[in-house]
Order: sequence, then C-alpha cells, then structure tokens
Amino acid sequence: MPENRCVQGIWTSPWLFILAASGSAVGLGNIWKFPYMVGENGGGAFLFVYLLCMLFVGLPVLIAEVALGRSVRANPIDTINDLHERHIINKAWVLVPYLAGLAGFLVLSFYSVIAGWALAFFERSLKGVFTETDEVQTQSVFQELISSPSEMMLWHSVFVVLVILAVGQSVTRGLAVLVKVLLPSLVLMLLGLSVYSVLVGDLDQTLSFLFSWKWNQITPNVVLAAVGHAFFSLSIGMGGMFAYAAYMSKHMSIARACSIVVGVDTLVAILAGLVVLPLVFALNINVDTGPSLTFISLPVAFGSLPGGQLVGSVFFLLLILAALTSAISMLELFVSWLHERFYISRLKASLLLGVGVWLLGFASLLSLNDWSDWTVFGYVLFDLLDKFTSLILLPVVALLLSVLVALNIPRSRLENELITRNPKHFKWWYNVLKFFSIPIMLVITITGWIGV
Ligand code: TRP
Repeated sequence: MPENRCVQGIWTSPWLFILAASGSAVGLGNIWKFPYMVGENGGGAFLFVYLLCMLFVGLPVLIAEVALGRSVRANPIDTINDLHERHIINKAWVLVPYLAGLAGFLVLSFYSVIAGWALAFFERSLKGVFTETDEVQTQSVFQELISSPSEMMLWHSVFVVLVILAVGQSVTRGLAVLVKVLLPSLVLMLLGLSVYSVLVGDLDQTLSFLFSWKWNQITPNVVLAAVGHAFFSLSIGMGGMFAYAAYMSKHMSIARACSIVVGVDTLVAILAGLVVLPLVFALNINVDTGPSLTFISLPVAFGSLPGGQLVGSVFFLLLILAALTSAISMLELFVSWLHERFYISRLKASLLLGVGVWLLGFASLLSLNDWSDWTVFGYVLFDLLDKFTSLILLPVVALLLSVLVALNIPRSRLENELITRNPKHFKWWYNVLKFFSIPIMLVITITGWIGV
C-alpha cells in the first residue's frame, strides 16, 4: 500500500503513535474505575485475573486491531470495505466497524459525566473546599454533586465542548504533544501520592487485600469484570486504536508499540490502586463502595497534605486531561470516517456526534437522581450503559475483530504487516490469539449475555 493513502497525515515519529495510544488507554478507567473494581471484586483475585487478561487477551487483541488498522491506512469503516472489495473478506464484516464506533459513542456518553465530576472536584479543590476535610465531609460533597442534576449537567456540557473542540483538530498534530507532557506528569504525581498514601495509609491491610486471596474467589463474575475492564482500559473493541493505527509509520514494530502501551496502562492503574486503597483502609471506608471511592478518599489526603490545595487541583486537572485524551479516541472512528468519506470538516463531524453524546449523557446523569426509578434489568441508564459496553459490546466487537484477523485475513499479509525480526514472536502472537484469546472472549461473551 502506498504510504500516502491516509488523508489525514501520518505520525511523524513512531513514538507519536505510542503516545496517542497511551493517551487513549490511560484515563478515568485507570484512576477512577480500576481502584473501585479491585475493591468491589475481592482485591487480589481480581488483580490476578486482570493482569492475566491484559497479557493474554488485551495485548494480542490490541496487536490484531492495530495490524488491521495500519494495513489499509484509512479509517476503520473504509478499511473493512476495502478488504471486502478486494474479496479478502465477506460482506457481513462491514458491519463490525459501525458497532465499534457505536461502542465508543456510548462509552463517551457516560464517560463525560464522570469527567464532569472531575471538573467539579477540580473547582472545589481550587476553592480550598478540601482543606482539612474528612471522609464524612467528602462523602457529602460527592453526594451533593450527584444529587444536583444542574451542576452535573454544567460540567458534563463543559467536558463535551472540550471533546468537540479537541476532536475537531487533526489527531496527528496537537494530541501527541499534550500526551507527552501529560503522561510523565501523571506518573510522577501518582508516584508521589502513592508514597504519601503508603506512609499515612493502612499498608498492611492493602497488602493482605491484594495478596492473600483464595482461588475460590475467582468466580465467573470476577473473570467477567476483569476481562471487561481490560478492554475498557486498553480502549479495545471500539475502533479507536484501529483508527489511530492508520496514521502509524510502516517501519514501526506493532508488537513493541502495543507492549509499551499495555505496560504504561497497567503501571498507571496499579499506581492509582496504591494511592487509593491504603487511604480507603485507613479511613475505614468500605472498599466495595463503588464509583465514588476515588472521589471520596483522595480529597481527604489532599486536605491533610501541606500544599494540598495546589496538589489536589493539579491532580484533578491531570485527571481531566487524561480523560480528554481518552475521549478523543472514542469519537475518532466516526469523525475520521465522516471527514474522509463525506468531506465533512472534522469540527462539524465532531459537533454532530458531540450533540448526540451530550443528550445521551444528559439522560444518563438524570438516571442517577430524578430518573432513578426507570430501570432496565435492575440497572439505571448510567449503570446500564457502563455494563452493556464493558461486558457485552466491547468484548463482542473485540471478538469479531480478532476472528476477522486470525481466521479471515491471509497469514502472509499479517506477517508482512507485523514485521517481527524474530518469526517465533509472530507465531506466539498468532497462536495465543487463535487458541487462547478468542476462545476466552467467546466464553466471556456468552456468559455476559446470560448473566447481565
Ligand atoms: N481506556 C480509557 C480509560 O481507561 C477509556 C477509553 C478510551 C475507552 N477509549 C475507549 C473505553 C473505548 C472503552 C472503549 O479511561
């Protein structure tokens, strides 16, 4: 394929893909969701399965998605169309990238509500609301926010506008610069906070929660939660990585790039766990509190830190930016498609999608209070969107894309695309994907459908 096929430019250095993909992976999933998922799902048992999933399902599937994305150098929808037109794959596959785009769209609608919480906490932190606070007070600050639809609406709208403006730009330009500053700052901040948290928090209880677990704690629900979260955290199954891969230089080793992304993503999640959990135990907050866990425990730490007002504000700012670089990837699939296929400007395309996200997000934030009586399978809309995407849609799309790559694309094509210096590595990836990741996803998807 000629290198200039991509309408929107190519990352000028191989590192830019790694940066953009890490920016997509690292987000609220690592800092907000991971600690409470560990708490809710029994600690060490979840962590153990999660790490296995990252290595044996997340990484191989990410490599497959990126290889597919780079092969044609177009947006995911046109890529699959192109493969179909050249009689490499069957017509039915053409539906898959639309499902992937839908997943990104649905995730963004509740993701932006949570990013809105981070904005609200940023504002409160700047105002010094958390100075010398305790967990009872932070709990009521959180409760006050959740029970005010108008305030949540305000911050949700601010975040959606930021996303629209950001996706309106070409991702091959500003994004990597932002991530280059953001990621090291975030890692440093989390390192500093984890040292503090380990010193003042309850390390003993954290360690026993994470390391003394029993095999019988690995229930189907824990496995399902761990696989679902691995997909969520690596942004796979929604075509964002697929879309970014189109801008990736042909000379770069896909396996190496993807391994770095998985490593960075796991590191940030574990650091966030080490910040949140020792505090949670020391403050006697229930570990299985759920989505409010990070928002309740961290401000208490900021309140007691010297210079905590500043540290807390910088932390929430970094969290918002991390959420923004993830959010960009959720709309990239449809935005790049509308732009390349229909010549709609990126800004107009993101405005169009952003309005949809804004409306659905509005409904999902209302479901946390005024509309909380309205449930499907016992879930309010907010939880329904979260569970439906993480446990069903992302695994299904990831499964379909993996089957497409492993069983439908000729092996020689994949070997060319993946250019590994060591042929053994290719075999490894190919066999793990075919005989391990795909069967696991199949089981997970079926249990997901039955169990949710
Ligand atoms: N990975 C991001 C996080 O951890 C969230 C994210 C980005 C995502 N793109 C996605 C989640 C696609 C699901 C699907 O915060």
